[in-house]
Amino acid sequence: MPASTHQDPGLLSNDVARFISPGVDPSTLPRSFALVEPLPALGPVPDSWRTAPTFECNCNTFIANIPIDPETSLYGTGEVAGPMLRNGFVTECWAKQPFRIEKDGKPAPQYDEKSKSLYHAHPWVLAVRTDGSAFGVLADTTYRLEIDLRDGIRLSSAQPFPVLVIESGSPQRLVERLSDLTGRIELPPRWTLGYHQCRFSYYPDARVRELAEEFRKRKLPCDVIWVDIHYMDAYKVFTFDPAGFPDPKATNDFLHGLGFKSVWILDPAIKAEAGYSVYDEGVAEGHFLSDAQGHEHHEWTWPGDAAFPDYTRPETRAWWTRLTAEFLEHGMDGVWVDLNEPSPILPLGAELPETLRHRSGGDITPGTHAQYHNVYGLLMSKATHDAMRKARPSRRPFVLTRSSYLGGQRYAATWTGDNSSTWEHLHWSVPMALNLGLSGQPYSGPDVGGFAGTPSPELFAHWMGVGALLPFFRTHNALHGDQEPWSFGERTERQSRLALARRYRLLPYLYTLFHDAATTGLPVVRPLFFADAADLSLREEDHAFLLGNDVLVQPQLLKAKTHAFALPKGHWRSFTLAGEDPVADPAHPVLRLRDGAILPVGPGGQTSDEAFEGPLTLIVSLDHAGQASGHLYEDAGDGFGYLEGDYLRTTYRAVLRDGVVEIGIAQQEGQRPHPARALHVELLTDAGLVRASGIDGQVMMVQ
Ligand code: GLC
Repeated sequence: MPASTHQDPGLLSNDVARFISPGVDPSTLPRSFALVEPLPALGPVPDSWRTAPTFECNCNTFIANIPIDPETSLYGTGEVAGPMLRNGFVTECWAKQPFRIEKDGKPAPQYDEKSKSLYHAHPWVLAVRTDGSAFGVLADTTYRLEIDLRDGIRLSSAQPFPVLVIESGSPQRLVERLSDLTGRIELPPRWTLGYHQCRFSYYPDARVRELAEEFRKRKLPCDVIWVDIHYMDAYKVFTFDPAGFPDPKATNDFLHGLGFKSVWILDPAIKAEAGYSVYDEGVAEGHFLSDAQGHEHHEWTWPGDAAFPDYTRPETRAWWTRLTAEFLEHGMDGVWVDLNEPSPILPLGAELPETLRHRSGGDITPGTHAQYHNVYGLLMSKATHDAMRKARPSRRPFVLTRSSYLGGQRYAATWTGDNSSTWEHLHWSVPMALNLGLSGQPYSGPDVGGFAGTPSPELFAHWMGVGALLPFFRTHNALHGDQEPWSFGERTERQSRLALARRYRLLPYLYTLFHDAATTGLPVVRPLFFADAADLSLREEDHAFLLGNDVLVQPQLLKAKTHAFALPKGHWRSFTLAGEDPVADPAHPVLRLRDGAILPVGPGGQTSDEAFEGPLTLIVSLDHAGQASGHLYEDAGDGFGYLEGDYLRTTYRAVLRDGVVEIGIAQQEGQRPHPARALHVELLTDAGLVRASGIDGQVMMVQ
């Protein structure tokens, strides 16, 4: 390690080191927003340290160069469109609402693989060397940062920044270590893993009720109905349109009565209108961003001229938390925070001036918008998350945010913003979720069917097929045609029904994976190279992906169906869940189970609650030694009892002895009693499927 290239390198733990550019006084560097807590320096970085940056400073640009060995694969950088493998790409960490308007005025993709930045800022690169070892590079800055991956890793910013390097034996371990530093998701309420139906906007209240009834009438599984901005009175946040949504509590009661939950949207911008109590309070209490002269700053958003809360102020966050907690008294189950890059609506592509002043407070020092722009969404998510905790302390919060920053998974889930109804965007749904997961955010998903434009029936069916296997499963669209599972004719409804049936049968496994994500930081959906990090043939595969460690998903994401899937070594046996035939209907991804795995699945149902009741099925695929095992995590589905031991984590094991497979419980953890239920076993063998039934908790012999 060349000692002259940096100063004050500090070993923070055996596998994490911090490097700072020469000439920069570490005490002048701003506090970190990514790290859960500041890391103490343990001592100098040892000479044996493998990867270290060299620094340059060019005309007020601070640059850190991190060389990479040939064939090192680069990932991460958060929410980026295009392929999963990021070598050759340049990303800018600058939260942004991307816009692209086509000349012919047709629905335009809102972003594509050329977009340098999207809604989030994740100054993080995950590198996998040819031997399968991995290292991560975290630029610990909130300022605009360019990540250039065309020749090694080159980071540049107008402000000096520390670089943290994490060394790991594997990419899995690296993601776990990232989550030790930047935090993990809280275990979400179980209902959020079900299917969500959204639209910009279901309006009025009668339309919301009709939609909910239609789902139940058609017996299509669904857990959550979303309410977008038209519920507001003239788009003023914390108000309700007196004609369309005169009684939001009654709307929510109605939804609850049919077994639905509801999530309602909030935007940050507050209409600048004297007499609107939220605005008046904000002015009186100094909650809004202002320019260098102290004048309140306005931009054009949905309600027209609007002011922006300064979430860097503790008082402003507390104010937002109070308003949101009051809002929740109407019975919403979750909150969706949008446009928090923050983004004006007009003119297209407008941003808040970087010179705006944040007055800040607490452990955040006053600064310009250039410094705090990238954490605006994170701080708004935090204040909203606090509101959910405050309003209902015994329930788990659910916040969905459009914008956030590295570490933002601590407060909110996310979705991939305003995508388009194209096959390209269908494909990107997968690498975007994978790279978000590799950047610490395991809870994400696309607008199924595409936000802008109208999908063909075939495209919608494929999107339902793959969306059902991504962490966050929500259909959403803009003001175009209808986009419900029944909007595209009978065939598409049948295909959607199958996709939903698969999702609801898989919920016990998915919930187990979310619990893993909340405790270890490992993503719910994982790249194929996690199965064998030294197998270079898996490094670019971003159509197929892994659900946890055990399920391999092969979706058809190209209209032409020409993708040749890479496959990790081992015996990945295909299986079905809901009577689907993925060979005959490519809208349903092929599912494969790792040999040596036991997959727990439930009975399915109309709601997530139903999907956790009734018989348990174990799908078993023995390895070459005739063994298999798998885990199932269960708890009350909401609340915090699980933190006090009210949960059950069961390890099932199967062993082949003398031609008989013995299946039983190898281990149990937690104080929750084991449910009395029937147990079905489906043993995948090369000769076909063997079924058996018995009682969960008792040893079963399958021949
Ligand atoms: C933004 C969001 C979109 C939402 C719309 C109206 O475009 O990204 O999801 O429907 O605003 O609130």
